[in-house]
Amino acid sequence: MNEGDLIALLNDLAALVHEHFETEERVLREFGYPHFKTHQAEHDALRGRLTDLLYATIHDRFDIAGLPQLARDLVLNHVRDCDLGYKRFLARTSL
Ligand SMILES: [Fe+2]
Ligand SMILES: [Fe+2]
Repeated sequence: MNEGDLIALLNDLAALVHEHFETEERVLREFGYPHFKTHQAEHDALRGRLTDLLYATIHDRFDIAGLPQLARDLVLNHVRDCDLGYKRFLARTSL
């Protein structure tokens, strides 16, 4: 994979993450999720890390360990530890 491919991949990932977080935040706001602000702050931190990684890559400072760490934090830690909290809330609220 060359640098152009990597930047394109990070751009695609950023677009997907942005769309996912925006959709999730709209639903959580709509249903009055009590931990919304905390959850949104977690999204903001992940968005910031993704932006930093993309910026560094564009400026020839790709962080080789940064991408797998971010992927792990996004998919495993955030989804497993944070998103499951609102899943239970929404299941109770929408009944
Ligand atoms: Fe989330
Ligand atoms: Fe999510």
